[in-house]
Amino acid sequence: LDDLLTSGVSGRRVLVRADLNVPLDEQNRITDDGRVRASVPTIKRLAGAGARVVVAAHLGRPQGEPDTKFSLAPVARRLGELLGAEVALAGDVAGEQARATVNDLPDGGVALLENVRFDARETSKDETERAELAGELAALAEGGAFVSDGFGVVHRKQASVYDVAKLLPHYAGGLVLAELDVLRTLTGNPERPYVVVLGGSKVSDKLAVIEALLPSVDTLLIGGGMMFTFLAAQGHSVGASLLEQDFVATARRLLDEHPDKIVVPVDVVVADKFAADASTDTVSVGAIPEGWMGLDIGPRTTEAFAAKVAAAKTVFWNGPAGVFELAPFAEGTRGVAQAIADGAAFSVVGGGDSAAAVRTLGLPEEKFSHISTGGGASLEFLEGKELPGVTVLEEGA
Ligand code: 3PG
Repeated sequence: LDDLLTSGVSGRRVLVRADLNVPLDEQNRITDDGRVRASVPTIKRLAGAGARVVVAAHLGRPQGEPDTKFSLAPVARRLGELLGAEVALAGDVAGEQARATVNDLPDGGVALLENVRFDARETSKDETERAELAGELAALAEGGAFVSDGFGVVHRKQASVYDVAKLLPHYAGGLVLAELDVLRTLTGNPERPYVVVLGGSKVSDKLAVIEALLPSVDTLLIGGGMMFTFLAAQGHSVGASLLEQDFVATARRLLDEHPDKIVVPVDVVVADKFAADASTDTVSVGAIPEGWMGLDIGPRTTEAFAAKVAAAKTVFWNGPAGVFELAPFAEGTRGVAQAIADGAAFSVVGGGDSAAAVRTLGLPEEKFSHISTGGGASLEFLEGKELPGVTVLEEGA
């Protein structure tokens, strides 16, 4: 981005891929604007330098056609508020309406294209189809440049992330650079003890990162829905809790191979149904009643996890410890997050639900060293996987 600004952008069109994929409530109100806020600095710098900024982004996973539920309209409004300037929302992705909106942009103006996933070619596995859309997007910034600033989406080989970079002079935005810098600290030589806290519902989504992290971490704390597969691997009956039976054997092998590193809960909060008004109880992991489901780690576990976190010099946290969206099951996540905030470790919150938890539970954001905007992207980086949206920037820059 510095290179691009140095070369002069006044009056030029710059296409910025941002990750503005924010959670919305039933009334289409943004419930966590973290990703919009994180996208502001790059857009502001470009607009401030007189560029005509065209922002491309996705929201949710629409089925490749326009769907008002997934319109970026609320995001355009919020982005405008944060920039202190109107953000014109194009009526389509890269068609006639987008061209008209972009043509109307004054120097220093910002336009947002409609959800790129309204066009099925965005996520197509067929390279030719993706290249076609990429061509239309690139044409919107003809003579200008492409800035990749959507860190949360760099693990996707999609038209607006990957293919378009091949068609325009391309640059990494400030957010992408900052995120990569932080994550490289974790894979480089983190200060020890290095403690990783993992949660979230599916163990199947996390096994690759668990395997990749285990050699380098000192302690791996397991919470969230995925804890039950580990508890089952220890021989506990988990009642009606989330359980991925196919992965119990792998969990058992990991526990056998790393008994000194992996820490699983000793108590859980159980409920008779998945609801805020459920009957609840706190039980030890060996006493989960038949038909009841565990929805949070218990207080003894929270205390043990907090102690590990307090003694750490580096902490990476991905995935809530329980169903924090429902008040009776938020205390585990709150306790672990508070311990990270109170500790002196270099702390990285790995995007997605954990970042949302920090903000919606009202924890002090500034007490975390870095709150990533990338959920899947940061995990794939830590797994050592190639990030196509980054590779394409490095190739033929
Ligand atoms: C995310 O929410 O992790 C990013 O915005 C990517 O979204 P996706 O998983 O739908 O590709």
